[in-house]
Amino acid sequence: MIEKKVGIGILGLGHVGKGTFDILEKNQAFISQEIYPYQIGLIGLADLDVNRETKSEKYDTFFTESADQIIEHPEIQIVIEAVGGEYPSYDFIKKALLKGKHVVTPNKEVVAKHGYELLDIARQNQVQFLFETSVGSAIPILGVISNILTSCPLEEIVGILNGTTNYILDLMFECQMSQEEALKKAQEIGYAEADPSKDIDGLDALYKIFILSSLGFRTRLRLDQINFCGIRDIAQEDIQLARQLGYRIKLVAIARKKEDIAGIRVQPMLMDMDHVLVDIHGANNGILLYGESYGELFFSGAGAGGIAGGSMIVSDIVRIINQPEYFEYDYLVQNPRELKVLNLDQEENAYYVRIQPQNGQISSHGVEKIFEQNGLSIDKNTEIVSAGDQKMIGVLTAPSLERKLKAALEKIKQDETGYKILNYLSVYRKMRDQYGRS
Ligand code: HSE
Repeated sequence: MIEKKVGIGILGLGHVGKGTFDILEKNQAFISQEIYPYQIGLIGLADLDVNRETKSEKYDTFFTESADQIIEHPEIQIVIEAVGGEYPSYDFIKKALLKGKHVVTPNKEVVAKHGYELLDIARQNQVQFLFETSVGSAIPILGVISNILTSCPLEEIVGILNGTTNYILDLMFECQMSQEEALKKAQEIGYAEADPSKDIDGLDALYKIFILSSLGFRTRLRLDQINFCGIRDIAQEDIQLARQLGYRIKLVAIARKKEDIAGIRVQPMLMDMDHVLVDIHGANNGILLYGESYGELFFSGAGAGGIAGGSMIVSDIVRIINQPEYFEYDYLVQNPRELKVLNLDQEENAYYVRIQPQNGQISSHGVEKIFEQNGLSIDKNTEIVSAGDQKMIGVLTAPSLERKLKAALEKIKQDETGYKILNYLSVYRKMRDQYGRS
């Protein structure tokens, strides 16, 4: 039951919690119309950092350091969990749901690790557990996938889902900045997670593609079924060599499904300069969806930042107030589909390999010969002299299976050919190429 005055409490006044507060404050009149005849009462704000205490001009709001004071407050019906990280956020959410409160969160880690349990608890307690902000921040992608794309099975999701790494790769490409410098900037602006290794090492994108795939494919998944890799090993030399070969490096999350088999992964990839995801800049996110009846759809928008995140939290609040009885994501509770998840290493991709000739002598011909001797043909290669005055070669192979590439690279290393293999990345290829469709 929703009271005429809907009591709201916010746990955590970091970027997203504060963004939510600011939107509720600034857009009070507009939001009131959206939920008429109901009204929002922003009752309590909690944060362990008293310096984050925030005064409201429009609501009679108290500030506390105790999450329990919010969760147990009798007039608070909707709890916003914006603390971030797995614990104690998971405990706060579970406690609030068990107490019969609706919960809204941007917390992708908790949703990916404990979402099914929390949805079950929400269902049992007849409350909502909503997390639209957890993927794509300001892009309402979960609503689209869940409620709108219901005419045919979703077959493919390809996305740039982490704003921080996208912003870093942009600065590395456009300003030749190092990864460390670019990360500092992303942290200053408030894009990065409290622990930025979650962005850099691909975990944040892993949680997001997990949530998208689970909702999109209407199935329960396990996180350990998904291979992921971040951008930590991407050096300025990779960015430059890829550019000379006609590509840009992006951290890409891919989920593909054919009947009841899916392949899901996160990895940095070379993308053609004219691919639509290459135009996703800064902390923006971009998401391509494919299903047979609606074809290819593309969504983009702000993927990080307090106001962007706060905007979808407020949308979830409005959704709860207007449709308190409608249980979102019910298909994951009542009747999830069975899906077999495969490692995508059965797919053939072209690969980029960065090589350093040990003796300083560079010979593209020599590289080609060694690759061919080891069962791989080269489509293209280029070279640069890096900042440290080291010569580097960037090679683009013809499409091959990853295990074949790895075996060949292993042999090239073992044979003491004089070439040091420094990095390799796959080149993005459309699913419809993989499946041999037009
Ligand atoms: N650190 C996240 C990102 C914030 O950079 O995308 C939004 O989820």
